[in-house]
Amino acid sequence: MKVDKSTRKPSSANIIYLIKSNNDLIDLNFSREEVSYIKNMRKAKKDIVEVNRFNKRLYIAYYPGQVSVNQKSEAIRVLGNKALGFLNGSKITKVVVSSTSFSGNDIIAFVEGMVLGNYQFLKYKTGENKKVNSLEEISIFSKEVSLKDIDELMVISSAVYNSRDYVNEPDSFMTAEQLAAEAKTLGDDSGAKVEIFTKKKIESLKMGGLLAVNRGSINPPTFTIFEWKPKNAVNDKPYVFVGKGVVYDTGGLSLKPSNFMETMKCDMAGAAAVIGGMYAISKLKLPVHVIGLIPATDNRPDGNAYTPGDVVTMFDGSTVEVLNTDAEGRMILADALSYAKKYDPELVIDIATLTGSASRAIGSQAMVGMKVNSGKEFVGLCKSADKVHERIVEFPMWDEYGDMLRSEIADRKNIGGAEAGAITAGKFLEHFTDYPYIHLDIAGPAFLAKSNAYRTVGGTGVGVRLFYEFIKSKVEG
Ligand code: BES
Ligand code: ZN
Ligand code: ZN
Repeated sequence: MKVDKSTRKPSSANIIYLIKSNNDLIDLNFSREEVSYIKNMRKAKKDIVEVNRFNKRLYIAYYPGQVSVNQKSEAIRVLGNKALGFLNGSKITKVVVSSTSFSGNDIIAFVEGMVLGNYQFLKYKTGENKKVNSLEEISIFSKEVSLKDIDELMVISSAVYNSRDYVNEPDSFMTAEQLAAEAKTLGDDSGAKVEIFTKKKIESLKMGGLLAVNRGSINPPTFTIFEWKPKNAVNDKPYVFVGKGVVYDTGGLSLKPSNFMETMKCDMAGAAAVIGGMYAISKLKLPVHVIGLIPATDNRPDGNAYTPGDVVTMFDGSTVEVLNTDAEGRMILADALSYAKKYDPELVIDIATLTGSASRAIGSQAMVGMKVNSGKEFVGLCKSADKVHERIVEFPMWDEYGDMLRSEIADRKNIGGAEAGAITAGKFLEHFTDYPYIHLDIAGPAFLAKSNAYRTVGGTGVGVRLFYEFIKSKVEG
């Protein structure tokens, strides 16, 4: 998809007019019949009206009614996606988006809804099954939008597209090594440094959690470090993002029932969010020192697989009694969180499709967030989350939940009880941190069985826009 600015509206162009009220229609050269048709449709509560002039189509999109500021941006993104549906439905390839009454931010939100909604994953469709959306080009006609705004939108959108692609790719393609290679490709493009630890290096570092999960796999694990350290960084200590990169989760010997396994190629969505977020941050050259850590492997029940009952010595030297091999995300994240200590970080945020419990509790409309010694940062992250509509619901880090992880024979076990699974997972991870820390569980919003406005079916890329917005807020203060 191409988005640019246009200084004129060619008479043959398809145009979407963004307007606040029917008063704005006066300047738009509609005939009297057309105006009365548009007004009738508006009376019938339509927020988008299509006028077919045969050689072109004109659309009126109405500003959303009474909603709060953040909800307003979201309502406009959703409106943009709805307009996109009309355009693709009418096989339109090019459109001008024109407004004299919307603010620059509102126009960008509208186009963002269009661009994100136009994502498709067609790599494995062939012949007539490969139905490509018609829309290819959007021109913005408005003084309120700069080329810089458009560039920012396009980089963020391409980061989201990439993140969605990684999740949508089946594990036969998206192995741990491939995931690392994708990070390297984006890092090379943006000018960030990407270092990939191979199995040998991971063994020499004694990353016991990552190696234990990998034991049942025939493919080697990877540990990727994606670093953006600009000379003009505003921070002394880095922000560190850690993403769960389980490229496929069978559950291991604690095998998942097949209807739960079906979608488990999505279990690297946290890693995809970190790679996409790091790409946007570095490509747009935000003056902030940020590091992404991505432990990656698949989780399988092959001959040498780790077993329920195994005791694993982790990267930090502590021991874990593995009572369920399906609680593998915390095993690989724990090692990455321990590794993060060496950076003396300002804040570490991990993001993971960690528990079915989080998804059952709040569904796909939000992620679960838990904080440790990071009150102010957590408030800031939630503010960014509301802005980009990747919302966070806070769960407690109360110590009593940690008691559920006591083991008879090791320092702790890798599962709590039947209850509060999202919280005990967070408590497990907390043990491996000694810095301000936020844990995000995206098991609900990472992957959709059917599309939800501009969040297309499959991988959503959730987390990418959140991380970019959060780091940008560090620059603007
Ligand atoms: N990858 C799953 C969690 C998940 C479930 C992600 C649904 C996305 C959608 C994770 O590794 C897992 O299996 N968690 C277990 C933990 C349990 C064994 C303590 C779960 O949530 O059931
Ligand atoms: Zn699992
Ligand atoms: Zn998992």
